[in-house]
Amino acid sequence: MKILAIETSCDETACAIVEDGHNVLANIIASQIDLHAKTGGVVPEIAAREHVLKMIPVLDECLSVADCNWDDVDTLAITRGPGLVSSLIIGTETASVISYVKNKTLIPVQHVVGHIYSNWLEAEDEIEFPLIVLTVSGGHNELILMRDHHNFEVLGETRDDAAGEAFDKVARLLGLGYPGGPAISKIAEHGNADAFAFPIVLLEKGSLEFSFSGLKTAVLSVVKELGEKFDKKLQADIAASFQKTVVTTLATKLKMAAEKFPEVKELHLAGGVSANTLLRETIKEYVPAGIKLRYPKSIAYCTDNAAMIASAAYFQYVLNPGLYTSNTNITPSTSFKML
Ligand code: KG4
Ligand code: ZN
Repeated sequence: MKILAIETSCDETACAIVEDGHNVLANIIASQIDLHAKTGGVVPEIAAREHVLKMIPVLDECLSVADCNWDDVDTLAITRGPGLVSSLIIGTETASVISYVKNKTLIPVQHVVGHIYSNWLEAEDEIEFPLIVLTVSGGHNELILMRDHHNFEVLGETRDDAAGEAFDKVARLLGLGYPGGPAISKIAEHGNADAFAFPIVLLEKGSLEFSFSGLKTAVLSVVKELGEKFDKKLQADIAASFQKTVVTTLATKLKMAAEKFPEVKELHLAGGVSANTLLRETIKEYVPAGIKLRYPKSIAYCTDNAAMIASAAYFQYVLNPGLYTSNTNITPSTSFKML
């Protein structure tokens, strides 16, 4: 079954065609990074206008790369939310129109569920349940237990900022570019990760929730205190120490979750922050013996993309094929509750 998915929840205009939730035939992403780098973050109105300009070219390129025409596409999928409403609406309107004109079934997908399914894309073996996924992006930060497809138990989420958001805000504080994650990890290569002892916030004993706002404030205090002394060397040291703190926090929480549910067979990383090399390396040391660790096969599947939406939609469809029809009535939702 070939699903064409559209994702426009933030600042990527993305379209993909994926077969049976697994084989990626095309994964086109028009990034707006250069546009938003000027403002150091995403301006929703500017993002939405760019989606309008990019939507049709991205769709055309996707069909061409996959060597498909509309008759080859069995079903459509769309990110319904959460995300920026003005961005989401460009995707939902486009998908609704195609669904009507081409008379194709349209499956709405929750964005975080999409990230979770990024691990199914081109997986070389069968994924086994139960599993725990740590999904960490700019907008969300959760530990989720899955006992089966589309069966989600949220074990913990952030009480304030997501880890990706902390990367972005600290990068801005340090005078680095947008997005913050890649900028911080690049500069951290030249820094001393033990130069600053930032707080590893684990909250109360046994808690699987997260909190990163205190860390952001701690970095701000250090930068303020350094004042004139702040230079390139200290910038790299702060970046490295901050990155190590976030990574240790995430790895510790994932390990705690795995120990609480010893029946889990796999641990997954997903979301933009799962592109982080230090996180991938460090987490290997935290995984209890006998549990398989997975992260998305490609960096392009970590950050926002439409292939993950197509994969999530496929498994949604298989579970409940009668539920979906041609749909011209899908409106954006900013709720996390759809999970
Ligand atoms: O999944 P995503 O593209 O968008 C959301 O759903 O939020 O994630 C974007 C986030 C940004 O905060 C970005 O700084 C972070 O992922 N990110 C990284 C890395 N690459 C992207 N964080 C740490 N290390 C990276 N290499
Ligand atoms: Zn995302």
